Amino acid sequence: MNKVIVTGVQWGDEGKGRIVDLLAETADCVVRFNGGHNAGHTLVVGGKTWKLALLPCGLLRGKLGVIGNGVVVDPQALLAEIDRIAAEGLAIGPDQLAVADNATLLLPSHIALDAAQEAARTQAIGTTGRGIGPAFEDRAGRRAIRLADLADPAVLRGRLEETLRYHNAVLAALGRSVFELEPMLAALLEQARRILPYLRPAWKLLNEADEAGRRILFEGAQAMLLDVEHGTYPFVTSSGTGPAQAASGSGLGSAARGHALGVCKAYATRVGGGPFPTELDDAIGDRLRERGGEYGTNTGRPRRCGWLDAALLRQSVRVGGIASLALTKLDVLDGMDELKICTGYRLDGVLRDDYPAGLAERGRIEPVYETLPGWQESTRGARLLRQEHFELVFNAVSPKRSRL
Ligand code: IMO
Ligand code: MG
Repeated sequence: MNKVIVTGVQWGDEGKGRIVDLLAETADCVVRFNGGHNAGHTLVVGGKTWKLALLPCGLLRGKLGVIGNGVVVDPQALLAEIDRIAAEGLAIGPDQLAVADNATLLLPSHIALDAAQEAARTQAIGTTGRGIGPAFEDRAGRRAIRLADLADPAVLRGRLEETLRYHNAVLAALGRSVFELEPMLAALLEQARRILPYLRPAWKLLNEADEAGRRILFEGAQAMLLDVEHGTYPFVTSSGTGPAQAASGSGLGSAARGHALGVCKAYATRVGGGPFPTELDDAIGDRLRERGGEYGTNTGRPRRCGWLDAALLRQSVRVGGIASLALTKLDVLDGMDELKICTGYRLDGVLRDDYPAGLAERGRIEPVYETLPGWQESTRGARLLRQEHFELVFNAVSPKRSRL
């Protein structure tokens, strides 16, 4: 198989960057297919820590990076990231990076809309504030501007007029200041000069690479529980996050079918609002946060921490068609007296192994835990689980061997 799709199976920040980096060594190109610069992927290459939001991690290993059509691209953020990486010693030109010409453009007004919508919500989602949701909304609403249209000033002006008419109406209704066309257009035309050389029909490039048997690695952003359809809606991101998204978000279609590798942390974290059945609002949660360094790569926000939710994990594995799991940050659990794993829920006194869709039911479920002895030795650097630990995780996750 020449394709591997790496996706998160919890609420993000599972260590996808690290796993992508390990696999990038043997890949020919690394493709982003969803999300935008809401992702925060941290990796250590050559003793140096790199933090990427929009650029595919494989670039740091000298592999061709592709930003697929499924990504929303803020040109200002992309150029700033390219400049930051260049200042750290790695120049990224069009030979290193291809950006899909049919990807969606993210505008400054999307960022203002993101903030205005958050403030207007009864319960804030706690978005990254990068304008991701409003940009995907415009794509579905057929108001979006696509990167290829940066090439023609007259076309760009026409599209921007239409988009801003809508943005300004919404912003004004929410009591926010509106945007003027001319300065925004001028800034876009300025950024276009630098962005245009990177634009390619990425779908074509990827199909040709696949036909030639090149190894393609897909780098998912966010994770299954933040998926717009299968996640903990409405506390989700605005794009599909599962392996299936690699097909449409890259233009490889069903040829994108590859080994679906899910990345899973040995405990759970979540940043922003929304349900988190196994959340620990106590000293154990604080310990996980401190030992695990659970602060956002992008926004610096402290992450909410809790026990591994194997019931939700099992659901992610099945909904995503995940073939295997990479377990990360096991060493954060070293030295704990006992550990808990959630294997299902109790709803109105009845046990169930799936997570309910209805908000009212979600409010009433209680996690059912299995308590396990901890270990005192260090698992730092461990690459394989001991048989009994493997059995433990496998039993908890496998749908066929479900304990409920
Ligand atoms: P990586 O790729 C963790 C969360 C936000 C918020 C919700 C919606 O680093 O795992 P958005 O800005 O996307 O509209 O916010 O999704 N979120 C993430 N949480 N890791 C991420 O990416 C995330 N990207 C978005 O915190 O709750
Ligand atoms: Mg992250």
